[in-house]
Amino acid sequence: GRTTGTKAENQDEPAGRACGKVILLGEHAAVYDKHVLAVPLPEAIEARVRPADGRSRLRIPAWGVDEPVVPGRRGSSAAVATVALIMRELHVAERHYDIEVDARIPAAMGLGASAAIAVAIIRAFDLQLGFRLDNRTIDTLAFECEKLAHGTPSGIDNNLATYGEPVLYTRSTASRTKPIQLSEVPPLVVASSGKRGVTKDMVAGVAKRYASNQTLYDTIFSEIDELSVAGSVALRDADYESLGSMMNVCHGFLNAIEVSTPELEKMVHIARLNGALGAKLTGAGGGGSIVALCPGRSHDVAAALKKAGYAIIRFSDS
Ligand code: MEV
Repeated sequence: GRTTGTKAENQDEPAGRACGKVILLGEHAAVYDKHVLAVPLPEAIEARVRPADGRSRLRIPAWGVDEPVVPGRRGSSAAVATVALIMRELHVAERHYDIEVDARIPAAMGLGASAAIAVAIIRAFDLQLGFRLDNRTIDTLAFECEKLAHGTPSGIDNNLATYGEPVLYTRSTASRTKPIQLSEVPPLVVASSGKRGVTKDMVAGVAKRYASNQTLYDTIFSEIDELSVAGSVALRDADYESLGSMMNVCHGFLNAIEVSTPELEKMVHIARLNGALGAKLTGAGGGGSIVALCPGRSHDVAAALKKAGYAIIRFSDS
């Protein structure tokens, strides 16, 4: 494999592939059926499946996962439960497979890795079994996996993992989502704090505060909704001054609903000091990653974040 230097046993099998995601505007509000704006992280996850003797096994070397998959038993990795659900839904729970996953994005960093794992594994089974599942079926099954992992997902992660296109998305209109056509790759830097953010807990925390401050939170979510809609136009038109401001304001709202951390604040600050037009936490927060919009300044922003000890996950410059 690419990262271990040893050829994986089933490297010759065709790979199922899936994208990760970077939310530019609208995380958390998305759970309340507001608009969310996201772009794909290409080449995030590859999975290979082949028949095995004995019992099924899941390996994700980059994450240190190597576990048996036993129907009806929860593994210590959430990905094991995902595999068990996929095998059950595809009616192969009684058969045995080696499932090998090449993960090129980190887990629990707000980048949609869990949904991408689900989609890549579904596609790998699809290739192995010759079902020729369509994207809608794959997306729907991955959404079931997300529910298992996260409780009340909006479905944005499985949408990006399946279709790999920039989108303005809402939960209730998911099936009618149309990709946004971009004239160029936006100049983004994605950096991880190295601290795990647990989406399920973050979403549950927001739900608790929502329940006791409903009017206040509804106002905030409506504001975020408008940012996402306006931001999709700015993204399409490569109007980065406007999009950057909207990202900064959105980060303020995410801080207000208590999903930021001192570390994320520090990273956002470093990005802005070094020329980012916009910088915000991305995904569920509580750890995880930031995204910065930095036309002409991606190198400076990435170098400053790296110097401060943070990992650069993706990088593109204008
Ligand atoms: C996670 O990628 C984004 C959240 O809005 C949760 C969701 O939409 O399912 C925090």
